[in-house]
Order: sequence, then C-alpha cells, then structure tokens
Amino acid sequence: MRLSTALLFALIAIVLTLEASGAATAKPRSLMEQQLMLVRNAQEQQQRSLLNVEFKLNRVISKLLSFTHIRPGDSLRELAANINLPTKTTKILKEYLQPAKADCAELDDQQRVDGVYKFLEPELNEKQRDLNERYCAFATTGAAWTVIQRRTEQLENFNRSWDEYRSGFGSLESDFWFGNEFIHRLVYRDDYELRIELQDQLDVKVWAEYAIFRLDSESFNYQLVIGKMDDNSSTSDALSYHNGMDFRSSDWDGGCSGWWFDRCLEAQSNLNGQRIIWGNSRNEYLIKTSRMLIRPRSLNSLNTDEVYDEDSAYGF
Ligand SMILES: *[C@@H]1O[C@H](CO)[C@@H](O)[C@H](O)[C@H]1NC(C)=O
Ligand SMILES: *[C@@H]1O[C@H](CO)[C@@H](O)[C@H](O)[C@H]1NC(C)=O
Repeated sequence: MRLSTALLFALIAIVLTLEASGAATAKPRSLMEQQLMLVRNAQEQQQRSLLNVEFKLNRVISKLLSFTHIRPGDSLRELAANINLPTKTTKILKEYLQPAKADCAELDDQQRVDGVYKFLEPELNEKQRDLNERYCAFATTGAAWTVIQRRTEQLENFNRSWDEYRSGFGSLESDFWFGNEFIHRLVYRDDYELRIELQDQLDVKVWAEYAIFRLDSESFNYQLVIGKMDDNSSTSDALSYHNGMDFRSSDWDGGCSGWWFDRCLEAQSNLNGQRIIWGNSRNEYLIKTSRMLIRPRSLNSLNTDEVYDEDSAYGF
C-alpha cells in the first residue's frame, strides 16, 4: 500500500517535471504575439483596477448615505455579489430607502444624488405601483424634484387607456408616467411648480417652468391647472394653451391621447403623444427626450413672492 502511494507520487513528480521542461523549451513566441499579450494583460489589469475604483467609490457613497440615514437598497447587494466578475458591468446605486421622509423635496440638497427613493411605507394602487416610490432629480439648484414623466428610448408605449394613465405605467428607472391619481394626490397637498425638460435630436437641452401645476380629481377628468411660465425658461410656452382642459386617453381618441385636450388638432404640446410634441410644427419633430418634474412651490425661494391668482390660472 505504502509502496504504491510512493510510486504514485513519483509518477506525478515525473509528469510535472516533464510539463515544466516542455513549457521551458516551447518555441519562443513571436514579437507580435508577445506584444499582444502585454497589451491584453495591461487591459485586463486596467479593467480590474477600474472596477476596484468603482467599487470603492460606491462604498464611500453608501457610507456617506448611511450617515444621513439613507440606506442603499438591493442594488448594492447585487454589486457586492458581482464584484469578482470583472466582465460583468457593475450597477450604479439607484434605490434608496428614506422611511423618515415623505417626498423628494425633503431630501438633503447637499447630497444631490438622483435616483429611485422609497419614502415612508409602500402605498400600492390597483396596479401594484407605489405612491411612495419616486424618481428624485436634483435638476436645478435647491430641493429635489419628483419626476412624473420620462420619455427617452421610445420603447414604452404611451398610447394608453384611461385606467393606465390613472394608475401609471412604465419603469421609474427608464420611461414612465407616474399616474394621474398619484400626481393629483401629490399636487393637492401643496402648491406645486412644474418643470419641463426637452432634448432635441442634436442633444440641445431646453426647459420651461410653470409657477403653478395642479391636476383636478378624476371626477373632473384630471383637468389641468397651470400658472404663468417663468420668463427665464429657455423654450417657448406650449402648455398654457392647454390650461383648464380635460385629460384624454386612447379611449377618447387614439390619435392624440395622454394629454389635456379640447380639440385634438389644435394641440400645442403633447409629451405623451405618438411623437413628443412641444410648440409649433416647425420644431416638433426634433424632440427626442422629455421629462416632467414637480416640487412644492414654497421651497423655491425665487418664486415665493409671486401670488397665485386662481382666476387667471383658470383663464377666466
Ligand atoms: C430669472 O433670472 C434672473 C437672473 O438669474 C433672476 O434674477 C430672476 O429672479 C429670474 N426670474 C425668475 C422669475 O425666476
Ligand atoms: C392608440 O390606441 C387606440 C386604442 O387602443 C387605437 O385605436 C389607436 O389606433 C392607437 N393609436 C396609435 C397611433 O397607435
């Protein structure tokens, strides 16, 4: 028994020696091959150290966040699980828990991290969408905005029924409509302002801000109430025209749905239409992406001196 074990070890030793000498006497690689190897090695090393830096950065961010009682959600755990696989792209932190806060506008505006936040307790609607899960964006100076619409890749279908617009659809991390009922509930708590951001095919970005933004209840067809456009806006006003109009969905007229209309053909804007339309027909085909954002108006110090005139906002 002992003899055969010794023999086995001897055999292994011989095989190993043979292999080592074989490697040593292998035909030397061409200069080209050697250089390629070097480049490849350098690349791999670079990739590894990049990932390392990214991971460390994420760890620092999550530590900073935990200081201010923001806890990263699942994406950090996924990130930790993926860290040994350099070929997999790491996810950025996107989802944060904020059980002690109620709205994007309450987030610390020193931190300024855009992403999906979960406030308070989940409050699910009939489509299992959560009123307290919101995409927050630090789009301007001051408090964060709640994004209520985003349209980028044109993959999400915006030609939707009344019920779908009421409940909301799409993914908060890509293209979506937050939902008329949710929006109505948010903007009825406070005076809200609206910001619209557009990007054209040449990647030129413009924005427009409205001092008042309100959506009436469902029994009033989510009628739009909009205030005066900020003079500093970098695009023309294409929404005031729709002030006081009812929301319309594909059940009403599939050709112009997802916006506030009296008569379809006279629309001046529709960010939820077949194409993203804003302003006159000369420009409308140029718009590639859009975003609609809201926040309580009292938080924007620039506008607090402007008094909301209910009559003029309704166009009486
Ligand atoms: C427009 O911009 C100017 C200069 O930044 C500022 O002083 C003014 O308050 C702004 N107006 C409004 C309505 O925000
Ligand atoms: C939108 O949906 C409605 C109802 O489902 C349909 O009749 C209409 O043709 C659709 N419009 C477009 C542009 O797809």
